[in-house]
Amino acid sequence: MHEDIETILLSEAQILQGIERVAAEVTRAYAGREFTVMSVLKGSCVFASDLIRRVPLRLELAFVAASSYRDGTTSGRLDVNYFPADGEIAGRELLLVDDILDTGRTMLALKNELVARGAASVRTCVFLDKPARRAVPLQADHSCFEIEDKFVVGYGLDFAGAYRNLPYLGVLRQAAIERRQAHQASRAAATGRA
Ligand code: IMP
Ligand code: MG
Repeated sequence: MHEDIETILLSEAQILQGIERVAAEVTRAYAGREFTVMSVLKGSCVFASDLIRRVPLRLELAFVAASSYRDGTTSGRLDVNYFPADGEIAGRELLLVDDILDTGRTMLALKNELVARGAASVRTCVFLDKPARRAVPLQADHSCFEIEDKFVVGYGLDFAGAYRNLPYLGVLRQAAIERRQAHQASRAAATGRA
């Protein structure tokens, strides 16, 4: 897997520094209040698990599942695949956590939906922010790193489902992108979805 990476943008040590800074911000923002960390699956599971262990407050953990990227590196349609029960939303102070704020459509749609379902408050927290690609007016309340407009993988972020388990953040080689696309196409053909 490591041989597929062209450049490492953030090492594990750099990532942890950014997370510690944001964990301290979150701790200050919610001091003395009970709140729920709502992790957007699948991409933010690695970030959320490192983040919550650095926030020494009484918090709950919930998940929402959304997918906006389909087998490619460009933004696709947003599907919300799983929403928590209203009991986990209504009247709660929520910290919505995602891997990356790209166009911002995913976070804005989820934030609006959570408010509509009666959340007491919704703050947003992302591992990465790609401001160059923003298509809707949304700024993260907390962000570990701002990056330029490049498609990145690792530390929870995937390309066509792979590379989430890389411990660092990197950019893929073109050959690896093409190989993965061919693999996805043959898998789709085999399952009759082509
Ligand atoms: P948005 O709705 O355009 O902000 O897209 C957010 C989602 O797109 C994220 O939760 C990621 O799953 C995915 N995404 C955006 N940029 C990247 C990237 O560079 N690498 C991997 N996934 C990305
Ligand atoms: Mg993704």
